[in-house]
Amino acid sequence: MKIAFVGKGGSGKTTLSSLFVRYLAARGLPVVAIDADINQHLAEALGAGESPPMGAHLPEIKEYLRGSNPRISSAEAMVKTTPPGRGSRLLRPGGGDPVHALGTTAPCGALLLATGPFEDDDLGVSCYHAKTGAVELYLNHLVDGPGEYVVVDCTAGADSFASGLFTRFDLTVLVAEPTRKGISVYRQWQSYAAGFDVPIALVGNKMQSPEDLAFLGSQAGEEPLAMIGHEPAVRAMEQGRPFSLDDLGPDTTAALAAIKARLDAMPRDWARYASLAAEFHRRNARSWASDRAGEDLTSQIDPGFTLGPHALAVTV
Ligand SMILES: Nc1ncnc2c1ncn2[C@@H]1O[C@H](COP(=O)(O)OP(=O)(O)OP(=O)(O)O)[C@@H](O)[C@H]1O
Ligand SMILES: [Mg+2]
Repeated sequence: MKIAFVGKGGSGKTTLSSLFVRYLAARGLPVVAIDADINQHLAEALGAGESPPMGAHLPEIKEYLRGSNPRISSAEAMVKTTPPGRGSRLLRPGGGDPVHALGTTAPCGALLLATGPFEDDDLGVSCYHAKTGAVELYLNHLVDGPGEYVVVDCTAGADSFASGLFTRFDLTVLVAEPTRKGISVYRQWQSYAAGFDVPIALVGNKMQSPEDLAFLGSQAGEEPLAMIGHEPAVRAMEQGRPFSLDDLGPDTTAALAAIKARLDAMPRDWARYASLAAEFHRRNARSWASDRAGEDLTSQIDPGFTLGPHALAVTV
């Protein structure tokens, strides 16, 4: 199951991602945590070492994933939206492949992957999406089942809309502080995601008073999935002091349980997942990628292939 934490800068995406990762790992569940933010803070929040950046290994990742897929002429012709097809190599969460080999195991047991920070070289010549492109490729080639989790700490705001990344999750948690800005980011996501039927759950964070609760509920126009107040234990986690999930207040623990329950209940439709990937690839190919590659990249879409557990036996 794939879940993303999004929201405005400073709303608590990294904090909630890390708490949710620890919550799942503490239940003995397999978890891959991905830091897809420009500012890489998830490793710190998980008390993990830095992972080699996926963004710096894109050529190898592409070479591996394309496998013997005849529709992808070279690793260079593989762009962030290139979907898998017959011959592609697929990934299993935490599998023994070169992509997961880039990960670092956090003390809680989760495997942490990171896109890598925004570097000076990236400025002007490309945008951050080149880095999050590694995550999009990863998710597009991943076959995950119930009880397996991929948790992605996303970049602030609505940057994910620049690609198909926002359609790759079973559930997107919009973390919002009870402020007008927090709500406006939620509305922006809601309106964009509605066109693609992307499931979003609102989670209030840093809630301090009954007024905060009333504000969020009334402004959002719907009941938030969960609310989290000020958590003193978060500071301990950030300062690298001993931290345990038992240090969290009951409301936060209930919020984490509610997020897991909602995620677990999400239906999986592999055919739809693949068709959205193809749709965003077509858009990407038409807008810039085919020109850049010097070939028509829409022909990379394999009409005879659908991602899913059945495809593992055939292509791996
Ligand atoms: N529930 C909470 N209780 C106490 N402090 C919190 C809580 N949630 C977040 N914080 C604090 O708020 C700050 C911002 O949180 P965090 O880094 O998780 O936000 P973010 O959305 O990931 O920010 P960025 O956009 O910079 O990546 C941090 O200092 C964190 O400790
Ligand atoms: Mg963050």
